[in-house]
Amino acid sequence: MKIKQILLLISTILAAVTANADNAERAEALSKAIAVKPYLPPGEDKMPDTPFGEMVRLGKDIFTDTGKHAEEYVGNGLSCSNCHLDAGRLANSAPLWAAWVKYPAYRGKNKMVNTMEQRIQGCFVYSMNGSPPPSDSKEIKALMSYSYWLAKGAPTGIDLPGRGYPKLEKPKKNPNFAHGKQVYGENCALCHGEDGTGTKNNEGYAFPPLWGTASFNWGAGMHRINTAAAFIRANMPLAKGGSLSNQQAWDVAYYINSHERPQDPRLKGDVEATKQAYHQHQCRYGEKLDTHLLGNKNGG
Ligand code: HEC
Ligand code: HEC
Repeated sequence: MKIKQILLLISTILAAVTANADNAERAEALSKAIAVKPYLPPGEDKMPDTPFGEMVRLGKDIFTDTGKHAEEYVGNGLSCSNCHLDAGRLANSAPLWAAWVKYPAYRGKNKMVNTMEQRIQGCFVYSMNGSPPPSDSKEIKALMSYSYWLAKGAPTGIDLPGRGYPKLEKPKKNPNFAHGKQVYGENCALCHGEDGTGTKNNEGYAFPPLWGTASFNWGAGMHRINTAAAFIRANMPLAKGGSLSNQQAWDVAYYINSHERPQDPRLKGDVEATKQAYHQHQCRYGEKLDTHLLGNKNGG
């Protein structure tokens, strides 16, 4: 190669590299500009008076009183909005608008690409300890319509600020049952009950159960200590999110998830086999609490 050719080659490469860097920078700046602005879902009064609006309203009703409006698919005392606060609107409590723009997506839990609909069906199976409404059911149509409507105008394919729960730092000390019990007694028992089974009024649960037969099952995201700690740190005690220390959130998450709850629906023969297959993460399933093997009793 002659010098001239080499120089030309170098300058061509340089130009390409710079253009790429420019593009990458521009893309990053653009996504920041779009995503940093907190997204606000439309107000309740903006639901249209149309057949579509009716579906959106039904979706909200199912989301906030699931046992009443989707009874045949629910196997516990919870509603979707018990964990997705403010009817699925609240940032940092896995809001529906932030979920809507991120599906379809691959999930490690079932090792495949999930549509939004499949993600919702998953919460019925585990968090609601029930069964998945069929794809063409009015329940799925309504929940999809409500989520879609809440995400009106949001950019798609981006992790909007407020999606999921804010990531929590690891605790300084290993989470501890006795410490968690103390945090629970001082900050949670008043509403959720000393025995964790919630508090009822005439209409159902005023304060939802955290463990026992009427709570989420051993396959739900909330049974993971890290997930529960993150939810609790951001959202509990109710209306006082952020008031517990990082360590307190981990300790109390460890405590509530060291109690019995409905069996993992993926049960494979026995607890040990199920633990090996599905519980290689931060949870207490298949571990001993004193002499009791957790997961070995249906909710008692
Ligand atoms: C003032 C009452 C109150 C206090 C105190 C409180 N919670 Fe809650 N908690 C609620 C309510 C109400 C909900 C459901 C939210 C909704 O439906 O809007 C809830 C939901 C939850 C959920 C998800 C739903 C479920 O049943 O699993 C968890 C987990 C939870 N709380 C844990 C805690 C922990 C841990 C504490 C103490 C650090 C605590 N809460 C303190 C009222 C309270
Ligand atoms: C016991 C608590 C609980 C209940 C009840 C619950 N969920 Fe969830 N849900 C979770 C957790 C935990 C996650 C995972 C959040 C995370 O880690 O980002 C989740 C995730 C989701 C997501 C995906 C969020 C995202 O950003 O990817 C959707 C959609 C969803 N739930 C819908 C529902 C619907 C619909 C219902 C009622 C049929 C429901 N959930 C009931 C705890 C619950």
